[in-house]
Amino acid sequence: MGIFGRRKSIDGITDNPGGERLKPTLSWLHLVALGVGGIVGTGIYTLTGIGAGLAGPSMILSFFIAGLVSACAALAYAEMATMMPAAGSAYTYSYVVMGEPIAWFVGWSLILEYTVVCAAVAVGWSAYAAGFMASLHISLPAALLAGPQAGGLVNLPAVVISFAVAGLLALGTRESATVNFVLVTVKLVALAAFIALTLPAFDPAHFKPFMPYGWFSLSPDGMKLGVLPAASLIFFAFYGFDTISTAAEEAKNPGRDLSIGIVGSMVLCTIIYIAVAATAIGALPTAQFARSAEPLALILRTLHHPLAATLVAGAAILAFPTVIMVFMYGQSRIFFTMARDRLLPPGLAKVSARTGTPVAVTVFTGFVAAVIAGAAPLKLIAELANAGTLCAFIAVALSMILLRVRDPKRVRVFSVPLWWLVGPAAIAGCLYLFWNLPVLTQTLFFCWNAVGIVVYLLYGVRKSRFAEAR
Ligand code: ALA
Repeated sequence: MGIFGRRKSIDGITDNPGGERLKPTLSWLHLVALGVGGIVGTGIYTLTGIGAGLAGPSMILSFFIAGLVSACAALAYAEMATMMPAAGSAYTYSYVVMGEPIAWFVGWSLILEYTVVCAAVAVGWSAYAAGFMASLHISLPAALLAGPQAGGLVNLPAVVISFAVAGLLALGTRESATVNFVLVTVKLVALAAFIALTLPAFDPAHFKPFMPYGWFSLSPDGMKLGVLPAASLIFFAFYGFDTISTAAEEAKNPGRDLSIGIVGSMVLCTIIYIAVAATAIGALPTAQFARSAEPLALILRTLHHPLAATLVAGAAILAFPTVIMVFMYGQSRIFFTMARDRLLPPGLAKVSARTGTPVAVTVFTGFVAAVIAGAAPLKLIAELANAGTLCAFIAVALSMILLRVRDPKRVRVFSVPLWWLVGPAAIAGCLYLFWNLPVLTQTLFFCWNAVGIVVYLLYGVRKSRFAEAR
């Protein structure tokens, strides 16, 4: 059998030869909260400002485009996750449908995505935390608030929050999911308050000129501007629902709960985002909040709601860790699954008897995220996370299409409506968003995967369960 013939069987997808199994403890409500916990975060709270700088008021179109592409991918995820309720998400679906090398490529991209999202959100959290503390007249030395590339020494709050979240996760899924649930409520209330307070100030004149940079243009220094590059950035705000599928093995009733979790959290967040973006643009000309690291708080302050601004910032400080938590959770389970398949060292698949979670992997993920968060600039890591996610979304949509063609009669608990349209639309949309990312991001993504191919050829290809089975 060639390595591309190494494909997991769809029927035995939840049987694991080593017997390692995660505990099924999560209900559909936990899953929706997990999804919303991962989706609403730095994207809407922070990147709304940068997006406004890239596209002006037409940023609202960028939200629509990124939301539409994500929605198509979410539908494909729901179909695949309910059909294969095993940990591993896009990696596992690719293993079943497209074979081990593609699965490795996707898993390796997911490791990049999840780890750098944690780091990016930790850096965003650090900025909000520093601002909040400053309003209380508590300040840290500037050298401890930014990594070397941003003129500092280390981003200490970002390092601390990365370790804190990893510790919480290591205590066990159930506890973390419950904490997540409370914090998700806090951030949704804050966004609802933002919409309610900015709506009375809505001025349609702020939507003109609507498209100052068109769909796509280049700045004199070569920066990509316009609706499409802004959509490629804002895409960051929409994902997170995909991490629910990595928890499939821990869902109590995977068939029903996963589709509710994935589609429900995605729809809910898209509605909230469009409302937040529209009221933000309506409340203030985009140029006024385009450069802010805390655009929502800035808009509220400008509208003379200083207390609400502080509360929204406070909610962000409380809420961002839920995003880190959801992605760290997903990351540790991708690692767990790949190690269980022996594509990574099997010691990483060890599950704690007490908590039922892979403790070593969780702590390792926290460590790597902390190192990146302490040192790297936010923009770079957010865009890199988008590249990894787009790769995973393409793999899921492609797996869905291939399986429909190969095995049309298989029972599908959740079926993508108009799959022949939705699947290709997800793939084309993701490729287009990838194309609009900065060249540096694309280069780093391919370098990461070049390293991945070497690791696979040196380790996974020989150690894989399929190699053992020969
Ligand atoms: N969607 C997540 C966020 O916006 C990654 O923070």
